[in-house]
Amino acid sequence: MLTRNSDNYTKKTVGFKIIKVVLGESTFTSMGDEWRRKRLAVQPSFHKSKIVNLAAIMTDCIEEMLTEWETLYDDGQTLQLTDAMMHVTLKVVVKALFSSALSDADIHAIATAFTPLLEATNRRVLLPIQFLHKLPLSNNKKYQGYIKTLDDIIYRIIKERKATDDKPLDLLQMLIDATDEATGLPLTDQELRNEAMTMFIAGHETTANAMCWLWTILSTQSEIRTKIEHEVDEVLGGRTPVAADFPNLPYCLKAFKETMRLYPPVPILPRHVEKDATLGQYHLKGGSDVLFSPYLLHRHPDFWDQPEVFDPHRFDEAAQRQRHTYAYIPFGGGPRICLGNNFALMEAVFIIAMTTQRFQLNLHANAKIDALIGLTTRPKYGVPVVLKRRQAAKKNLLTK
Ligand code: HEM
Repeated sequence: MLTRNSDNYTKKTVGFKIIKVVLGESTFTSMGDEWRRKRLAVQPSFHKSKIVNLAAIMTDCIEEMLTEWETLYDDGQTLQLTDAMMHVTLKVVVKALFSSALSDADIHAIATAFTPLLEATNRRVLLPIQFLHKLPLSNNKKYQGYIKTLDDIIYRIIKERKATDDKPLDLLQMLIDATDEATGLPLTDQELRNEAMTMFIAGHETTANAMCWLWTILSTQSEIRTKIEHEVDEVLGGRTPVAADFPNLPYCLKAFKETMRLYPPVPILPRHVEKDATLGQYHLKGGSDVLFSPYLLHRHPDFWDQPEVFDPHRFDEAAQRQRHTYAYIPFGGGPRICLGNNFALMEAVFIIAMTTQRFQLNLHANAKIDALIGLTTRPKYGVPVVLKRRQAAKKNLLTK
């Protein structure tokens, strides 16, 4: 379905139609030749060698978050991690796209429009009665209003960027410089807008949720947390990571991957079956929709020993080699695999490392933790954590 016969399993499902209202035609929503054209134009911007240029943008945003925690919270105070992670990952993706072109007011306006837009889109996908979305109801007007707020900012920045010789190393510039392989033409303003909106939507809640699950788990797994602390202290000391540090933080990466095994940010994915097909022992009728679930696959005892146990060593090279490649698909697979996977992994490792340098996060004693499986795998009741500064680690580093 994802690889050899992927053309037969399209995104012509109701859910994707609803998401298309926000994204338009983009790498996420398009199909066939239209998708291939877009993917070829956009993909080079997400190559590992290009993501390196975005490392400083990521660490700046994370640094701002941690400085805010240090300023606003005393040891022992409680922070709502879900809000903090949503905020920092949105800022990272917005700044990775537009770097310094955005004022604080723009970022605030984006966050204010974006949160309800995402909530409403989630609701629309879960209750896909499309004609309701077209009625002149106040909710629908608000929905269009959020999209317009975001459009106004995105189009304004595209226009400003095209009018200046200043070319920062951000995603927008890479997209503006990208050309269609077949025609040699650049992306139109509308195509640039659609890709930007796609990155907002695809690229922040996913990472934010996984980060929340990671700290929920570490809170009860002190041995694993200590290993992370040792790695971070040894590799970075007290300094801010740079792109070259990423490969030297393998345990942080494995812990993040293992988190996405147990709590894949996208738990279920839909496809539309174009023509009758046989998949393993199942006969699928053309015209029907199918769902496949990373969540179930990642906990399937045929592929994983003691699937409920959290163990980052499952991602040691030798262990990975022994496993079926498609037993683990947090980013999907085949030609439509997530375009932002390298971006997300680097961002996550930097959040883990920089937060660990300064804080230990412990679940609040009254925290109620449960997963809400919808479009994404969210912590249903949020993740309240108690902050504790890692003074000991800091002191050790100062005396090194
Ligand atoms: C932990 C974080 C992330 C997870 C778990 C994730 C997961 C996924 C999954 C499962 C798909 C495949 C959807 C399908 O086959 O129907 C996908 C596609 C996509 N993702 Fe991500 N994603 C993450 C982060 C990002 C980021 C940071 C960006 C961009 C900044 C991004 C951009 C995209 C795009 C453009 C596609 C569509 C690719 C295509 O169809 O050609 N994602 N993602």
